[in-house]
Amino acid sequence: MRRCLQLALLGEGQVAPNPLVGAVLCFEDKVIGEGYHAYFGAPHAEVACIRSVKAADREKIPFSKLFVSLEPCNHVGKTGACTELIIKEGIPEVWIACTDPFEKVNGSGIARLKEAGIKVISGLLENEAQAINHRFFTFHQKRRPYVILKWAESADHFIGAENQVKISHPFTDRLTHRWRASEAAIMVGTQTAMKDNPQLDTRFWPGKNPVRVLLDRKASLPVDFALMNQQAPTLIFTEEESRVSKNLEWIKVNFDEQLVPRILNILHQKGISSLIVEGGAKLLQSFIDTGIWDEARVISNPLLSIEDGVAAPALKDAICTGKQALPQDHITYYKPKKSPISVEN
Ligand SMILES: NC(=O)c1ccc[n+]([C@@H]2O[C@H](COP(=O)([O-])OP(=O)(O)OC[C@H]3O[C@@H](n4cnc5c(N)ncnc54)[C@H](OP(=O)(O)O)[C@@H]3O)[C@@H](O)[C@H]2O)c1
Repeated sequence: MRRCLQLALLGEGQVAPNPLVGAVLCFEDKVIGEGYHAYFGAPHAEVACIRSVKAADREKIPFSKLFVSLEPCNHVGKTGACTELIIKEGIPEVWIACTDPFEKVNGSGIARLKEAGIKVISGLLENEAQAINHRFFTFHQKRRPYVILKWAESADHFIGAENQVKISHPFTDRLTHRWRASEAAIMVGTQTAMKDNPQLDTRFWPGKNPVRVLLDRKASLPVDFALMNQQAPTLIFTEEESRVSKNLEWIKVNFDEQLVPRILNILHQKGISSLIVEGGAKLLQSFIDTGIWDEARVISNPLLSIEDGVAAPALKDAICTGKQALPQDHITYYKPKKSPISVEN
């Protein structure tokens, strides 16, 4: 099952809003097949695993055990139901790490296998399997994207200055672009869009660009700014009229104290399973104050002092979960003390 989790992670950044899943087929303690869900629309892990079995080993399939990190699907979606494939192949025993919270599965995959006389054992490495699919579980159980807050601050806790200031080291920038490539969407506030003219892409790391999300109450971001270049899907929340132009969508919303949950609700409806919020301070603070965040990653440059500028957000009710030292910068990781809330929709 640990191998299933390793395989599952190979699909990171490619499968959303589907889950990461890995599968291994064993005959008498020897692996005869393995596979994973590689990208959205690709064969499921069980299918890839069974297809990987060599012709000489195919006769062993009806005497083998299948290990899979998530309950097999029992509905016909982009691919056929995995339960039917397992039954057709005559696999007698299936080990599952965790059940699938997706309403079309949710225990029905296990029930179908048992009904067909297959021995099913579930719960092996359950916590680890749920942890690697934190985006997928948050999306289905809390009906909102998994939210990561990220910022870079100086030694004296400022994230910006009068003039643009570079806080993180280029090595750290590679890591943060890797983070971007793993998430479905990335968000900034109006001042950040106006002052920094960010691209919010993954140019320092191979991987997909996330959907860009920004606040622009007056829909006044100049058309020659990078976020308007139509090179990645971009959602602009505004109080002006809703409209769509190639890769750009303006969505009319009220800018009141419910703005954060309202936006998360809309992102959920659009199938966005994770969001990295990259500033500025006001936007990050509004997520913190609403209590809807799942992780915070704070980069600190101990060699830089800004003295006067935009103060870093103030995290509250947070627990430190780890620290990382990079060339020049330190990263501190946090999670909320209490389990963060769902969004009504
Ligand atoms: N070091 C870093 O990691 C980092 C990252 C990003 C940005 N920055 C820096 O941060 C500075 C900008 O930060 P900032 O705090 O001034 O601005 P910001 O958070 O980027 O944008 C603030 C504006 O966005 C809108 N907004 C944000 N949250 C809202 C909410 N919950 N409800 C309604 N409106 C909301 C409001 O616009 P309206 O007033 O139009 O309604 C608000 O004035 C810049 O200096 C930038 O360089 C640093």
